[in-house]
Amino acid sequence: MLNLSMKPTGWFQIGWSAEIPPGGVKPIKYFGHEMVAFRNRQGVLSVLDAHCPHMGAHLGYGGKVEGDCIACPYHGWQWNLQGENMLIPGEERRIPKRLRKWHVVERHGLLLLWHDPAGGAPREGWDLPDLFDHPELPADVNDFYPCYPDAIVFKPDERIHPQLMTENAADTAHFRFTHGAPEDPVLLDFDTSTPVWQSQMGFFNKHTKEIALRLFARNAGVGLSFTIFDHGKLGRRLVLSCTPVDDDSSDLRVSYFFPRDPDSPHVMPEHIRELARQTEGLFEEDARMWRHQRFRQQPIFAKRDVLGYRALREWCKQFYEAEGCPRGPLIVMEDTM
Ligand code: FES
Ligand SMILES: [Fe+2]
Repeated sequence: MLNLSMKPTGWFQIGWSAEIPPGGVKPIKYFGHEMVAFRNRQGVLSVLDAHCPHMGAHLGYGGKVEGDCIACPYHGWQWNLQGENMLIPGEERRIPKRLRKWHVVERHGLLLLWHDPAGGAPREGWDLPDLFDHPELPADVNDFYPCYPDAIVFKPDERIHPQLMTENAADTAHFRFTHGAPEDPVLLDFDTSTPVWQSQMGFFNKHTKEIALRLFARNAGVGLSFTIFDHGKLGRRLVLSCTPVDDDSSDLRVSYFFPRDPDSPHVMPEHIRELARQTEGLFEEDARMWRHQRFRQQPIFAKRDVLGYRALREWCKQFYEAEGCPRGPLIVMEDTM
């Protein structure tokens, strides 16, 4: 399946903020790296390489937060938020060795990690889109219910490459067949000029020929997509993510943001919970394809695929720096008549 590198560069989701409360510790693994995430009592989060430089214990299994440090469960050496050694029990000295600290940001309750296979810092121009700050449909995050824990989907350890999810941004032909939609949407426009892909899809009303629903999509690299459904005054907002765990599998997540219902602004009402549950089914319809799909480096395109897919695949190449990216001609299906 995986003839594309599982070490793309960019921003990726590694969880939800609420999974690590103040004083909490969590072992995580992405891009083949064992890491530990922990939060001090003031709420500051840090993600470090997991294995203690002393004897190699994994800090995520039994490690405890002590002030601004995580204490190793094996012999108690302490490492601060920056990954520096702060304490060796019974000794005056500290060692200059430090654990690698990963770049992580928290946005709207999502934990997002920067991955550069060469170890570089987040790059200028590779900014994360803001789900709520959109030129066509700006909104205030406070007008939405938090996505966690009622409107999320988590599918761990799936044999799915993130690019398969990203290619959905150009795939107008799967809605009827994969999702049972009455009509396919049309790709209205797209912009590939930055590391954030931007596009609009429109579902047309068959009778009036007017756009009945628009989808604004922004993809930050190959594993993270931000979509706004132009639905109601505020729009429904969705983050899809697919983050490689290692060279064989990925974690998939959906985070859905619904506008607050004025009748129940603090508690998500049942009818919205039901919509969130339906999301799980919709996402599974896609995941069922991706899970068993063999990525075609040289696909045979139907005519309607050509414009968007070709542009998207060209755009995706910039995220593969560690190993080769897909090359070769893209084949277009010709009329046989
Ligand atoms: S292995 Fe961590 S303190 Fe010994
Ligand atoms: Fe889909």
